Amino acid sequence: MPTNKTLAILGAGKLGIVLTQLAIKAGYSVYIAGSSSPDKIALTIKVLTPGATAATVNDAIDHADIVILALPLGKYRTLPAGLLAGKLVIDAMNYWWEVDGNDSEFNNPTTSSSEIVQQFLQGSRVVKAISHMGYHHLHDEARPAGQTGRKAIAIAGDDDSDNQAVATLVNDLGFDPVIIGPLARGNILEPGHELFGANLDHQTLQAIASNHK
Ligand SMILES: NC(=O)c1ccc[n+]([C@@H]2O[C@H](COP(=O)([O-])OP(=O)(O)OC[C@H]3O[C@@H](n4cnc5c(N)ncnc54)[C@H](OP(=O)(O)O)[C@@H]3O)[C@@H](O)[C@H]2O)c1
Repeated sequence: MPTNKTLAILGAGKLGIVLTQLAIKAGYSVYIAGSSSPDKIALTIKVLTPGATAATVNDAIDHADIVILALPLGKYRTLPAGLLAGKLVIDAMNYWWEVDGNDSEFNNPTTSSSEIVQQFLQGSRVVKAISHMGYHHLHDEARPAGQTGRKAIAIAGDDDSDNQAVATLVNDLGFDPVIIGPLARGNILEPGHELFGANLDHQTLQAIASNHK
């Protein structure tokens, strides 16, 4: 039975592995998938993220209510939109031309990349989050709520209860959640913007987000 304590993480690279480690530590069940057979990532998962399950993309999605997209943005069209329908999907992806190629779709300044992903995943509820902080900072900076120096992660989504669900997850992973507005606001977290790479405390992140109209 899927619950908010079971995550599917699509992408078993730098970001996906660190998020899996943090989620396992926080008591979540995690199904993690790369682009191909689970056999290809099984040893990595066993060694780096004990307790997680290496799965196919479809199996991982089947098990979870919350799905985190931790794959190259340029691959978003390979996602099984039908299977993702009804799921809360956290878009942690960024447009990085060296990886994704020069894709004019992502060069439109009026549409955030998460809105493009939402258009493709029409039956899903997409929230942009866990996208601006580098994986090494995610690994090093996670700490319990209330601890001095805790860092913050921005969340942009259209539905209040989905934003709250993502905020709960972000808090469980070890960061202060900062809801910055609807999905379209996710553009201020993208590469080329001030908050991309942000490894900041709650107040500082909130202040910078508020200054971007
Ligand atoms: N690295 C960071 O610090 C960081 C921080 C925040 C956000 N992000 C974003 O997170 C995403 C992943 O970055 P990364 O640095 O983790 O990349 P990465 O280390 O290159 O890992 C990418 C992973 O995605 C998998 N993948 C590729 N196509 C897939 C598909 N169709 N379905 C499922 N999995 C697929 C790859 O599997 P194969 O090896 O089998 O191809 C690989 O496991 C990017 O959009 C990036 O902008 C990265």
